Amino acid sequence: MGLIDRLSRPLLRALDPEDAHALTLKALRLMPVARAPADPPEIAVRAFGLNFPNPVGVAPGFDKNAVVPDALLRLGFGFVEVGTVTPRPQVGNARPRVFRLEADRAVINRLGFNNDGAPAVLARLSARVRSGGIVGVNIGANKDSADRADDYVRLIDTFAAVASYFTVNVSSPNTPGLRDLQQAGALDDLLARVIDARERAAIGHARKPLLLKIAPDLSLGDLDDVVGIARRHAIDGMVVGNTTIGRNNLRETEKAKEAGGLSGRPLFPLSTRMLAETFVRAEGAFPLIGAGGIDSGAAAFAKIKAGASLVQLYTGLIFRGVSLVSAIKQDLIDFMRIGRLDSLAAAVGRDVADVTAEPWPA
Ligand SMILES: Cc1cc2nc3c(=O)[nH]c(=O)nc-3n(C[C@H](O)[C@H](O)[C@H](O)COP(=O)(O)O)c2cc1C
Repeated sequence: MGLIDRLSRPLLRALDPEDAHALTLKALRLMPVARAPADPPEIAVRAFGLNFPNPVGVAPGFDKNAVVPDALLRLGFGFVEVGTVTPRPQVGNARPRVFRLEADRAVINRLGFNNDGAPAVLARLSARVRSGGIVGVNIGANKDSADRADDYVRLIDTFAAVASYFTVNVSSPNTPGLRDLQQAGALDDLLARVIDARERAAIGHARKPLLLKIAPDLSLGDLDDVVGIARRHAIDGMVVGNTTIGRNNLRETEKAKEAGGLSGRPLFPLSTRMLAETFVRAEGAFPLIGAGGIDSGAAAFAKIKAGASLVQLYTGLIFRGVSLVSAIKQDLIDFMRIGRLDSLAAAVGRDVADVTAEPWPA
């Protein structure tokens, strides 16, 4: 795996970012991927009623169409979140729409939920459902939908038999108006409807955990509302969070002008602060997934100590390759041994008081 990364990275970085990504997916689809060694029990995590072999997941956007979830699980990821899937196929925005900010170890994307649509993704997930492993489905609304909440409801009905869990994505900056679904009234209505759909679907299948993915750009007042509503509806967890529309601390000032969501290393301070702020407000009512700028074991452990039970990464894979997952897991094992922890759960939220006492990340 290390060799593949060393050979493929210079080639991939010479290509347009979207072409490079398509090539990566093709390689994962066509090349045999050796199964990573089994994970030691100390990094196993139980959350949302599911048993994760390790806490390191692939963030949505990497495998939007569920083409390679099993290859990713074989590489050693503890779970894969596919999507965002919308009911109908969608082409997304005009290219170029993904930009690598090399000096910042960051990416700006304005893909706009390009995906094959629910029927095609359902066919792929149905074909692999017996393979096991945790594969969550991230759901979103079509850009031209007349009733966006209804799109989420339909997607829950569609995927209830094949999804390990659902993530309701109301935080992509690339579908105009989508993030307004985070506003109190709209979110209350949306969660009522999706929870209802999940309960109805649970009559035929096991009840699937339902998570909410938020933007790191919410104000703390908005976060109070969002977590309060999430708790009232007894959702199973939250993902903190999506890409930011902020452009702080970037060296690549020309590319920084591109519209879209920023991910990668510069997102780490803000997304980690929002994670800790969410942890404080959730008061243990549900677990959190931390995402944003994880590109090392130290960054993953910092997310856990800031309140994450699980972590997800995408942009780190672009700059460090898929061998990042085994490096992070080994580091987590080492950190636990040094700290004499026998489970990761013991580290979750340990640094929340320190993180929330710091000045707001610039
Ligand atoms: C190219 C690209 C496409 C993405 N597409 C989605 C998506 O479809 N749905 C979603 O919820 N998040 C999407 N994301 C956001 C990631 O899932 C993640 O929340 C964010 O990038 C922060 O993590 P990172 O810094 O490790 O990349 C995308 C990110 C990138 C870079």
